[in-house]
Amino acid sequence: MTDYTPRPEHRFSFGLWTIGWQGVDPFGVATRTPMDPAYAVEKLAELGAYGVTFHDDDLIPFGAQDGDREARIASFRKALDATGLIVPMATTNLFSHPVFREGALTANDRDVRRFALRKVLRNLDLAAELGAKTYVLWGGREGAESAVAKDVRAALDRYKEALDILCAYCRDQGYDIRFALEPKPNEPRGDIFLPTIGHAIAFINELEEPDRVGLNPEVGHEQMAGMSVVHGYAQALWHKKLYHIDLNGQNGPRYDQDFRFGNGDVKSAFLLVDLLENSDYDGPRHFDFKPGRVEDESGVWESAKACMRNYLIFAEKSRAFRADPEVAEAFADARTDELSKPTLADGESLADLRAEEIDLDAAASRGAKVERLDQLALEHLFGTR
Ligand code: GCO
Ligand code: MN
Ligand code: MN
Repeated sequence: MTDYTPRPEHRFSFGLWTIGWQGVDPFGVATRTPMDPAYAVEKLAELGAYGVTFHDDDLIPFGAQDGDREARIASFRKALDATGLIVPMATTNLFSHPVFREGALTANDRDVRRFALRKVLRNLDLAAELGAKTYVLWGGREGAESAVAKDVRAALDRYKEALDILCAYCRDQGYDIRFALEPKPNEPRGDIFLPTIGHAIAFINELEEPDRVGLNPEVGHEQMAGMSVVHGYAQALWHKKLYHIDLNGQNGPRYDQDFRFGNGDVKSAFLLVDLLENSDYDGPRHFDFKPGRVEDESGVWESAKACMRNYLIFAEKSRAFRADPEVAEAFADARTDELSKPTLADGESLADLRAEEIDLDAAASRGAKVERLDQLALEHLFGTR
């Protein structure tokens, strides 16, 4: 049987806020006790992850005094050094504190925007010190419940201003850090800015340093928006904007379920791994999930292990699928490779194109032969092939 043991070369990473989630939801208090970041690092290393990520407030409680801050960072660093775990990505909590109730980088209140920017800058310095290469910006509070109370165009001006400032700061400091915007349609705000991959890509193109900014798409967020996860990630790849990924599970457009990777839309998870493994994406396989609130700590580690194991199972199934001769035949029948051929041949003129005639009846009556190929993919996924 194939070995599905996660190892550092698989580049699996987890946010401190994922395995450390205590189960607080809008209806209930915590079901688990707080987790010490150093302990989380040790456990993740033991399970075979290579990286850990964090919000500033996951590591250093909001408002901590300088001495306390330094002690917490030192303890975290010690655990990193002892285990060899790295910090591939860091991010800022711009959503929990009541000061961000109406927004952070796009709040109507200018003082709040300035505070938000200071908070990002401070953690960016720490991220650089810890060797992070990606800095995620998830604008959970950037949005509104009522479109009348927010000038969206002005808000996008301020969002752009913030990103331009942050990019210039990284350049001036010589930080080898790129930003990754994380789209989400809603929750906690009624409507969040940059709700989908497409909105975010269009926004990035308006920035001063578009090359320094890409995406961190999350599986569940695309499904919340009713979008195809695979198409979204593929388009991000096509734009060379897939800088980081948040893998998890979700059942269609409802609240942000943050299931472990593999639970939810299994077929889409399989095809996503198939896409990633056959692409030039070489960044972390980062899990942003919430271990079920129903679990105790053992369930936390079960679900973290399962995220990695499911990824490896899908990757193995993708290899078997692509190596199957019957699948190759089905791909050929479905003419998928023809799509890679330019529509006009080299040097061909429009006059040549216009002179050509299609056998309309033949082309219109030809079936696409997708069903057989799709069924073969499912059979590989089911394990019947
Ligand atoms: C969410 C988001 C967050 C972000 C995280 C990193 O829906 O809560 O997915 O988990 O990924 O804040 O920026
Ligand atoms: Mn989420
Ligand atoms: Mn996320």
